[in-house]
Amino acid sequence: MYKLIDGKQISTQIKDELKDRVAKEGIKATLAVIQVGDDPASSVYVGNKKKACEYIGIGSRSFELPEKTTEEELLDLIDKLNDDDDVTGILVQLPVPAHIDDKKIINRISPLKDVDGFHPENVGNLCIGQDGFVSCTPAGIMELLGRSGIEVEGKRCVVVGRSNIVGKPMALLLLAANGTVTVCHSRTKDLKDICKQADILVAAVGRPKMITSEYIKEGAVVIDVGIHRMDNGKLCGDVDFDDVKDMTSFITPVPGGVGPMTIAMLMVNCVKAASNRSENHNGK
Ligand code: GUN
Repeated sequence: MYKLIDGKQISTQIKDELKDRVAKEGIKATLAVIQVGDDPASSVYVGNKKKACEYIGIGSRSFELPEKTTEEELLDLIDKLNDDDDVTGILVQLPVPAHIDDKKIINRISPLKDVDGFHPENVGNLCIGQDGFVSCTPAGIMELLGRSGIEVEGKRCVVVGRSNIVGKPMALLLLAANGTVTVCHSRTKDLKDICKQADILVAAVGRPKMITSEYIKEGAVVIDVGIHRMDNGKLCGDVDFDDVKDMTSFITPVPGGVGPMTIAMLMVNCVKAASNRSENHNGK
């Protein structure tokens, strides 16, 4: 019998822990959230991020910029927010419109305020095991594993997907936890055979229900990062849940698995940025 990993419950637990800590330690955090254009999915994510800030006791400042905003204007805003001592975290919702180079935007955010963990300095820190901000979705998956009592050390871990936001940092985190890690992608040969060796399989492919029982080893832990709206209006992941669940030991549902953890870990990063800042100020 498989166990369901309840991301909703674990994320609420994390947010409650943060809320207590912010109140007890009097942490003053403010997250600046920038959205360029009015993509409906991005608006939902941004709205949820602001709600989470409110729940925990973190201030949020919203910048809803028109689609036609130039790269220069966006970079200027980031410079102002980098210099603003009241702002402890900065987040630019991705994707930005095609005329803006997202790499330039990410590189401009101060690494000390980069609560998404996308800046090369933070990615570099993750790579060599130094402290920094870690991308929220993979960090959330490590929390799900840890809080479910799942050991990574010595396990065969397979990550399907190599994005900068999920696949690559996920592989680095599993490696840092002493897993034996394989990263697969769209050009991987014998994908099924490789997935079938996984004790822990992380699916971040972006294709609805692609991972079927043929990809699963009996007793595997299956983590589903995908979220897709089906024709019938229901949500599904990259994993064909009903087909694979009985082969697994643990599995995340969609919705209610990985999704809620991304925002919880963003809040962890926001509190960390504010707390680091006040430590540095006190030290001066
Ligand atoms: N777009 C999709 N995921 C993310 C995320 O984690 N952070 C930001 N800023 N944009 C995203």
